[in-house]
Amino acid sequence: MNSIKTVSVCGLGKLGACIAATMAARGFHVVGVDIDREKIKKINEGLAPLDEPLLAETIRAGQPRLRATLDPRETVATDATFFIPPSPSLADGSFSNEFLLKAMQPIAKAMKDAGKRDHLFVCSSTTTPGAVDAVLIPMLERELGGVCGQDFGVCYNPEFIALGDVINGLLDPDLVLIGESDPQSGAALEQLYTQYNRNSPRIARMSIVSAELTKISLNSYITMKISFTNQLRLIAARHPRADIHAILDALGSDSRIGKKYLRAGLSYGGPCFPRDNRLLAYTARQVGLEAPLAEASDRINERTKQELVEKVQQMARPGEAVAVLGVSYKPNTHITEEAAGLFLAQQLKRRGYRVLIHDFAATPANSPSLHEFELIPDWDKFRNDPGVRLAVICCPWPQYQELAPTAGTRVFTPWHL
Ligand SMILES: NC(=O)c1ccc[n+]([C@@H]2O[C@H](COP(=O)([O-])OP(=O)(O)OC[C@H]3O[C@@H](n4cnc5c(N)ncnc54)[C@H](O)[C@@H]3O)[C@@H](O)[C@H]2O)c1
Repeated sequence: MNSIKTVSVCGLGKLGACIAATMAARGFHVVGVDIDREKIKKINEGLAPLDEPLLAETIRAGQPRLRATLDPRETVATDATFFIPPSPSLADGSFSNEFLLKAMQPIAKAMKDAGKRDHLFVCSSTTTPGAVDAVLIPMLERELGGVCGQDFGVCYNPEFIALGDVINGLLDPDLVLIGESDPQSGAALEQLYTQYNRNSPRIARMSIVSAELTKISLNSYITMKISFTNQLRLIAARHPRADIHAILDALGSDSRIGKKYLRAGLSYGGPCFPRDNRLLAYTARQVGLEAPLAEASDRINERTKQELVEKVQQMARPGEAVAVLGVSYKPNTHITEEAAGLFLAQQLKRRGYRVLIHDFAATPANSPSLHEFELIPDWDKFRNDPGVRLAVICCPWPQYQELAPTAGTRVFTPWHL
């Protein structure tokens, strides 16, 4: 396989739009493909198709080399295609292959119709370990009428990014993970990353299933660390003179542990951590094992959400007004999926409280689950005169430090702001 100079990116969502934009900004010629006409239009106008810090600037920087299309046949002229459609969780904890199959099939057909060989298919969506080898590659071999590793290549190449900091996370990662069907495919992708990354990350190459397991294990390990802090916080709370922040600060000073994600707060949420951790438990069950650590992280996380609801119930009675401040799952993103604040707001509303919500990014327009709530429209007015019985800071947006308790309002937060 020759070196990769032109790429196509199929699936221009929260991750894919950022990959396409950064590739173009770093000098690659990029064709973006999506089924969403509006995203295609925005990108071709040089605009960001969604809210993500630095995305608009990056699209502008790469604009001469970036265009988007609805037509999968336009990928034929590129050397490699990155696939990043959704891979939603199913009820048993595994991830669906449906969107990946639907995205890959027309592109494979286009390659076959054009008589193109040696295309590199890169899967960046998170998959159930084993799915690329057992489901995606057999489909590609059928559609292309060829053998993977000889007539075309496949890599599994997930990214480790955090929403709200995706552009920097893509360009300066700690780790580039490459699962490869054959050494030539892995080498071509490794070479691409040496041009693409601004830093010099560790590039780990391995079999495809090893990379699938690595991806979900990394997130599962972080959720375990977060649940450990929550377990310790609950224990410390039963000791009136214990200070969880002092404890975790000291623990994190040990280099074997480290301070990252060792901060007392609330449950983890978002589109990756909870479901990647559950996927590891599913993967263990599939081979006749258990994954008690992953299951415990999930249980503690659910317990942490419930505990917040119970705590608030002790501080205010049904019918009283409670402000839930921060309903996104972390600062700098509007995503509310599995967020502690959204969970609290929903539970309080069901229990008869008057719930007012506020966030610096999430709104009913970008997070439709917020439609059922009363909004705090003006933060400056609210922080000077909250007029509610209780304000609970659920997401550690730094601006919430400005909120001082007043005579009539109690402010509660598990975060050390
Ligand atoms: N968002 C994250 O923080 C994050 C982080 C790591 C991994 N991932 C993984 O990346 C994948 C995508 O996540 P996302 O958050 O970017 O999803 P998303 O829903 O924001 O975007 C998916 C995009 O794929 C497009 N699409 C769907 N079917 C298509 C098809 N047949 N052809 C072309 N495009 C199609 C959609 O229109 C949409 O633009 C998932 O597997 C997810 O687990 C996401």
